[in-house]
Amino acid sequence: MTDKEIRQKAGEILEKLTLEEKIGMIHGAQLFQTAGVERLGIPPLVMSDGPMGVRQEFAPDAWKPVGNSDDYVTYLPCNSAIAATWNREIAHEMGSVLGAEARGRGKDVILAPGVNLKRSPLCGRNFEYFSEDPYLTKELASAYIRGVQAWDVAACVKHFAVNNQETQRLWVEVEIDEQVLRELYLPAFYDAVKKGGAYAVMGAYNRLYGEHCCQSDFLLRRILREEWGFDGVVISDWGGVHDTEKAAHSQLDIEMSVTPDFDDYFMAEPLKKKILAGEIPESTVDEKVLHILMLMLRLHMIGDEPRKSGTYNIPEHRAKMLEAARESVVLLKNENGRLPLAKDALKKVLLIGENASCVHSNGGGSAEIKALYEITPLMGLKTHLGGNVQVDYTPGYCRDKAAESDTSWQETSLENGGGQTAAGDDRAADNAQTAREMKEKRAALRGEAVRLAGQYDTVIYVGGLNHDHDSEGNDRRDMKLPYEQDELILELLDVKPDMVIVMMGGSPVEMGQWVDRASAVVWHWYAGMEGGNALAEVLLGETNPSGKLPETFYKTHTDCSAHALGEFPGTDTVAYREGRYVGYRYNDKYRIEPQFSFGYGLSYTSFEYRDADIDPETGILTCYVKNTGAVAGKETVQVYRRDLADDAPVIKELAGFEKIYLEPGEEKRVEITVEMCNDAGTEYTATTESSAGIRSVENTDAQERCVYCVGCL
Ligand code: BGC
Repeated sequence: MTDKEIRQKAGEILEKLTLEEKIGMIHGAQLFQTAGVERLGIPPLVMSDGPMGVRQEFAPDAWKPVGNSDDYVTYLPCNSAIAATWNREIAHEMGSVLGAEARGRGKDVILAPGVNLKRSPLCGRNFEYFSEDPYLTKELASAYIRGVQAWDVAACVKHFAVNNQETQRLWVEVEIDEQVLRELYLPAFYDAVKKGGAYAVMGAYNRLYGEHCCQSDFLLRRILREEWGFDGVVISDWGGVHDTEKAAHSQLDIEMSVTPDFDDYFMAEPLKKKILAGEIPESTVDEKVLHILMLMLRLHMIGDEPRKSGTYNIPEHRAKMLEAARESVVLLKNENGRLPLAKDALKKVLLIGENASCVHSNGGGSAEIKALYEITPLMGLKTHLGGNVQVDYTPGYCRDKAAESDTSWQETSLENGGGQTAAGDDRAADNAQTAREMKEKRAALRGEAVRLAGQYDTVIYVGGLNHDHDSEGNDRRDMKLPYEQDELILELLDVKPDMVIVMMGGSPVEMGQWVDRASAVVWHWYAGMEGGNALAEVLLGETNPSGKLPETFYKTHTDCSAHALGEFPGTDTVAYREGRYVGYRYNDKYRIEPQFSFGYGLSYTSFEYRDADIDPETGILTCYVKNTGAVAGKETVQVYRRDLADDAPVIKELAGFEKIYLEPGEEKRVEITVEMCNDAGTEYTATTESSAGIRSVENTDAQERCVYCVGCL
């Protein structure tokens, strides 16, 4: 059906509905679904979190898992990991698996992807988001959404908009210049809707320009509906609505929340009463229901067309998880070819660090997953090395004791502004006694790890963060490694200077105390159910790493603009005074050297670039890339643009990228369509290689308005 036919058909159905029935369709009747209209064959709209797989089933009116064994699922790499692949096909595949599994589990709307920009490395939900860069985010997110929706499931892109912190997330007022909002924070949503064709958008909790985003006239009517022509469904974040009148008049279509008093929701009985009293016109509800019916027709939930049925937990899905996880691993440092490990020479391998044997899928907030399985780094290495190599594990450190609680965090998530900043590293150590006990316990674990390390030919440290830190409802206080890991790593390097260090997490950590002494450092995200296998393959050279950082890895959080200006997390308001200088845009302008830069990542092979050129008419940049090393590998060719105008605000911006595969000695011509500065065109003449191993092709013609650069300026 065409859009026009869909609208017409939805209009016909709408006419048959009573006010009561319409009201039922625009608010939660259960925690994850609305009411249907049985007499007309209109089903409820069934939703589920979230970005890393289809969440477990909850009771209809309580945050209690049902506890069946049929809701284990494929566990996807987090969005930061997907972003690190810089691979649109992989993003599409991940979306496609999620869509198939959502349909397979009988869902209509999957509450993903999260596309908020990473304004600060401390935002607790960064692992659910892609990048600090709008171009990388929008390219990957729109591919992902197309993958989801091919399964007759709606992607619900979230959280619209400027939801860049967890602290005070329900109330914080974001003060941002409108131009910056449009340049940096809205493009991912725009492309999600326009290029990805997202059928649904979730409003954010926070406020913008004095309005709650879930009922914002500016965001929902002016931008989303009027400027972008969005005719899909707008769903509130759970508990994001605050006022019946405003919500009714806004372009919000469905109110969801975390409490079981469904009839009391702002858009339930209170709205019905106001309509019956003539205070709010019924047409406000009609518009919302029309959008919902159009969505149902698009998903073939109603109408005559057959609907795809989906499936979950099939072997093909798991194979795709492995592919994605492989490409997400980022090799940060590799001196003297420390990696890959020579498999045949390995005899005794010791893994140190809780993250070597810890599963992460079941944490993080609404992104938690009941994974069918999760291969840990320890299991991955053991299965790859087999019985002839002795692989042992010692924790070396331990996390804080979890506070005991009978209630789900989601149940209490609307209290106290909804989110906080972590009080400190030892969050559970709320009294001196616990703190002392933890210290003693860690000292003992550290002593044991240091004692053992000297007895092994190979030591691999697997530490970093976990979902006590990368978590919804909680921002980190700083980028320091928790659980006294710095001390542990330093002591281990004393006895084992060639120790391989794997850092695992969804957001960067400070590495300054030991990174110069380490010979090999690998970054491993929450990489899905096959993460441990992918990591083992990289460490053993069966996979050549090709991940590139989708965000700046600062040396410390105050190197990030929002923190340098003291504008994170704010109090009742948070001022985005850094303007467009977010991530590498800030570091470039103020010449702040990051620990590892945006776009950075090493390979076991080397690549050479030549003859870059751009056609100013078409915006197509071409260049040749050759694999000059001994092993096959993938390279992400990154194109940055620089506006040469005197008053040009930023030094460089990502304008295009393409990932290619090359056998040893092979050369390929690469074509990249770049997002151009106005009327730019230019010539490229020189090829250089920077010390960071990033190749760049520089422009020598300064007459042109814009420079396009392959690699980094
Ligand atoms: C989160 C959303 C999530 C919703 C439903 C909220 O707390 O912010 O991202 O989709 O809960 O679980």
